[in-house]
Amino acid sequence: MAPPHPLRFLSQSFKQASTVGAVWPSSRGLSRAMVQPVFSSPHRGGPLRVLEIGAGVGPVTEELVSRMLPGDHLDVVELNPEFCMVLRDRFAGVPVPPNIHQVSILDFKPGIRYHHIVSGLPLANFPADMVEKIYASIFELLEPDGTFVMFEHVLGRELLNTFTTGESKQRIGRILEIEQSMEPLVVDRRTVPLNMPPARVLVRRHPGANGES
Ligand SMILES: C[S@@+](CC[C@H](N)C(=O)[O-])C[C@H]1O[C@@H](n2cnc3c(N)ncnc32)[C@H](O)[C@@H]1O
Repeated sequence: MAPPHPLRFLSQSFKQASTVGAVWPSSRGLSRAMVQPVFSSPHRGGPLRVLEIGAGVGPVTEELVSRMLPGDHLDVVELNPEFCMVLRDRFAGVPVPPNIHQVSILDFKPGIRYHHIVSGLPLANFPADMVEKIYASIFELLEPDGTFVMFEHVLGRELLNTFTTGESKQRIGRILEIEQSMEPLVVDRRTVPLNMPPARVLVRRHPGANGES
């Protein structure tokens, strides 16, 4: 389960800059903060169904698999074929192996819903329409009493919004609006300074939780 050399991540981040969206894998502190809501939830009383989106070379996957129990189910959706190869090698021998799916989250149709969805997707890099579609897919795949965990780089969107111009500024502005409209769904938010760059973990509930629509 040893992590691959970080240069393997870096080389993809240059080749596929817009979809990878980071130059270094998440730190252990950030990865642990991402999985903490999964294993402290009431669902932990029974078998868990967990989906990880955008796993890269697997720092968050490692924290997930090391806490999974027999009967738990972990699907990992990762677009990049090189990263999928790394993930398959890295987690082949673990007691509860993840199911690695090389596909875009927008095309993933598993036929089940998850108690928890954990995402490393670089949403600030995507067109605003795509961000809307991704959030819609995520909430279709999430149980109504489940949680959706993601991270963003501290001040990343705000800095882009301040320093970009033209179409790029419009795109970021729309993403900020989409996320602002989901502010009532946020149940926890914490900053992890020891990451490159510092990051913020956001935990959201399903919009349909408690019978709301
Ligand atoms: C910022 S990296 C995060 C990697 C890892 N979770 C981490 O924390 O180090 C984003 C990852 O999302 C993947 N990705 C981008 N678009 C995707 C999509 N539409 N569906 C699935 N994965 C995607 C990229 O290939 C990349 O591995």
